[in-house]
Amino acid sequence: MDQKFSNKVAIIAGGAGGIGKGVALRLGQEGAIVVIFDFNQSLLDQTLIEFKQRKIKAKGFLIDVSDEGQVQNGILQVKKEFGKIDILINSAGIVGPTSTKITEYSNADFDKLYQVNLKGSFLLTKYVLQEMEKSGNGRLLLISSISGKEGNPGMVGYSASKAGVIGLVKGVAKEYAETNITINGLAPAVIKTPMNENTSAEQLAYMIAKIPMKRLGTIEEVAALCCFVISDENSFSTGFIYDISGGRATY
Ligand SMILES: NC(=O)c1ccc[n+]([C@@H]2O[C@H](COP(=O)([O-])OP(=O)(O)OC[C@H]3O[C@@H](n4cnc5c(N)ncnc54)[C@H](O)[C@@H]3O)[C@@H](O)[C@H]2O)c1
Repeated sequence: MDQKFSNKVAIIAGGAGGIGKGVALRLGQEGAIVVIFDFNQSLLDQTLIEFKQRKIKAKGFLIDVSDEGQVQNGILQVKKEFGKIDILINSAGIVGPTSTKITEYSNADFDKLYQVNLKGSFLLTKYVLQEMEKSGNGRLLLISSISGKEGNPGMVGYSASKAGVIGLVKGVAKEYAETNITINGLAPAVIKTPMNENTSAEQLAYMIAKIPMKRLGTIEEVAALCCFVISDENSFSTGFIYDISGGRATY
């Protein structure tokens, strides 16, 4: 594979599984030093073993993205060990309740969705930018969701937290627009990953029916787009939410 990311240090939060793992794999195959932040120890260990067998340079940190101390400390450690951070991708996220009307949706679930999906994105972005602004170079990509643009019924915590990620991307990107640091987002429709293994058949059918291509996206398709978005050649694009929805999004 083309070594487009040779010697780039890339943090992939939520990189032990699903989309994040797919992006980490492709980045590693294209020469990046891959640093995975994930809170699932066994998945992280398994992924690091697999990456080692594939001769990918990778290191893992057991980090819960909703925990400020863990995020701050992890980023400082990466800087200390590798001397720089070129790329951050946040793929860590949870779905929470589905097929649940707001009147039945618990406050505790809503708080949890906010903590992981939105506050986690805020913390990673804040502490990575504190390092990146010293060099004035960097690429950030936060994974939102089509539900943050359109809203999915029965998933108020998810839709609201993902809409928050879109606002975060758009606002912060403008703060850094005059540097060589870009901050973009991605709004996938349904992608075949472990995340939707437990989504109810009813909810999944509703989501697929809304996709003109009438199929789920693949992790490889998402990884390909992510690797373009965070490449050096993507230099006149910031504060944008990239689409990967099989034709569902019309804006
Ligand atoms: N799969 C889809 O259909 C789909 C669609 C739109 C958006 N997304 C978004 O893409 C991202 C990745 O989704 P996925 O399908 O790969 O999910 P997944 O469940 O397969 O993988 C998520 C990864 O994030 C990790 N993670 C979860 N909470 C964490 C936390 N608090 N701290 C650290 N790590 C944590 C998990 O351990 C796992 O490795 C999520 O943000 C999700 O909302 C997914």
